[in-house]
Amino acid sequence: MKNLLKAAVVAFAIAPVCVSAGGDPDHVKFPADYAKTFTQYATINRGNQTQVAKLYANDAAIAGYKQGNQDNSGAVIVMEIYTPKKDAEGKPIPGSDGVFEIDSLAAVGVMENRSDWDAAFSKESRTGNWGFALYNPDGSVKSNELNCVQCHTPLQSQDYLFTYQKLVDFVKK
Ligand code: HEC
Repeated sequence: MKNLLKAAVVAFAIAPVCVSAGGDPDHVKFPADYAKTFTQYATINRGNQTQVAKLYANDAAIAGYKQGNQDNSGAVIVMEIYTPKKDAEGKPIPGSDGVFEIDSLAAVGVMENRSDWDAAFSKESRTGNWGFALYNPDGSVKSNELNCVQCHTPLQSQDYLFTYQKLVDFVKK
């Protein structure tokens, strides 16, 4: 009995790692038409300096930030994560603007803001009204062990977005 209990505890502890741990694709869906309908607001080398990010915002996000509002329900932000081209030493090759030359699309991160999430989407799994999910380029769920909420939650003053200033500057143009 004791061993059985132990096994159950171990199974429970391991289980979350086996499923897609980072994000909630049940609630935050892949915005299949983002390449056509969203606006690209920035292209940057990621903070880890090993990847490139292309950033897109939907119309609700653009309209909201244009009016100076944060926490815009209906806002969706997409981050395409690219593997850069590498030189013989394995270092990413910067283009003339300093942004690495792109090799291939590795993943698509999604943040969606809703004031009306259904109750099944617990507050602990969100950052304010933002939900998270990570997808493969084909729109299938990308298994990962990232804690999306943990990294984004401290950024409350900038609507929980790392690239907030870039987006706000973009919409002002
Ligand atoms: C280790 C900290 C960390 C974790 C964990 C993390 N992020 Fe982020 N996220 C960042 C940083 C930093 C940026 C800005 C771009 C960059 O440098 O990578 C960012 C940017 C983003 C953006 C673009 C909007 C913005 O905030 O600028 C999206 C969308 C995003 N992340 C989604 C996710 C999803 C989905 C997950 C979980 C699967 C996740 N993030 C987990 C640190 C994190």
